[in-house]
Amino acid sequence: MSLKAENITKIYGNQKALDAVSFTIKTGEIVGFLGPNGAGKSTMMKIMTGFISQNSGDVFVNNLNTKSNIKEIKQQIGYLPEHNPLYLDMFVKEYLNFVAKLYSVENYKDKVVDIIRQTGLSSEQNKKIGALSKGFRQRTGLAAALIHNPDVLILDEPTTGLDPNQIIEIRNLIKTVGKEKTVMLSTHIMQEVEAVCDRVIIINNGQIIADKPVTEISKLTESKKQSVLTEFAEELNEKIFDQLSENISFRKVKPKSFIFESDTEEDIRPEIFRFAVNQKLTLLTLQLKEQNLEDIFRTLTQ
Ligand SMILES: Nc1ncnc2c1ncn2[C@@H]1O[C@H](COP(=O)(O)OP(=O)(O)OP(=O)(O)O)[C@@H](O)[C@H]1O
Ligand SMILES: [Mg+2]
Repeated sequence: MSLKAENITKIYGNQKALDAVSFTIKTGEIVGFLGPNGAGKSTMMKIMTGFISQNSGDVFVNNLNTKSNIKEIKQQIGYLPEHNPLYLDMFVKEYLNFVAKLYSVENYKDKVVDIIRQTGLSSEQNKKIGALSKGFRQRTGLAAALIHNPDVLILDEPTTGLDPNQIIEIRNLIKTVGKEKTVMLSTHIMQEVEAVCDRVIIINNGQIIADKPVTEISKLTESKKQSVLTEFAEELNEKIFDQLSENISFRKVKPKSFIFESDTEEDIRPEIFRFAVNQKLTLLTLQLKEQNLEDIFRTLTQ
């Protein structure tokens, strides 16, 4: 149960979508493949599942090369493609039976009953896929990816487009099934990686820029200085903020809006709030900015 990519390069026209990408995922790991739009995540996943071919490099799934053993490999991989393509006119149970037969699953009818229960689809099993909510469509895609009991799961943005409750449910489902499998999932959401994965591989412009345990990435995020966005009701002369503590720097983003930054651990919002009150300023917004992926990239590539 392992995945190995060795120097994978993929070129579309004159664009390098993947540039000598290498990594190994060991048995039982849940690895997040994180990167902004266009980073190359889906391209890598399509290559790993044999749906498209690379220009150079090799992928090994359970030590089998995708170039020569794609049929066996497809039996060992469960793949949830980007946008989760499904036959909307088929009924959920009918579709899963169909997929199970494609994979020549033994006792497929029993397996379909099992997987419907496991993915929480019991109430929807007799509906047409086209009539399902997004979350249940996503579960149907996951059920189809799991039906042949693969060792390896490759999930391309499994929670995209779901509401917060569905996101939590799908993440829990991935964690549960992931206990017995090797999982690679792509996302652009840092919090998703923190919630589900053991390790994170960060890709940008077709190149891996970090490959670390999630705990280390979380540390990077935490050590980043805080940034607080404010908005006032009145236009201000920014000189007024020179009176704040020395460790707080500021910059104007709009006439009435400023960003305050600090490297300290201590939350700077109370000081800004008290300062505004003392100066009789009307503070409309006082918001700690979440560190986004771009900030993390900057930290990592510095
Ligand atoms: N079939 C194709 N033909 C030409 N260029 C392509 C093709 N598929 C992908 N690309 C390009 O390759 C790059 C990587 O795309 P890819 O879909 O792998 O990114 P991604 O990381 O999955 O992004 P997203 O987060 O938006 O899904 C992009 O610049 C994209 O435009
Ligand atoms: Mg993609």
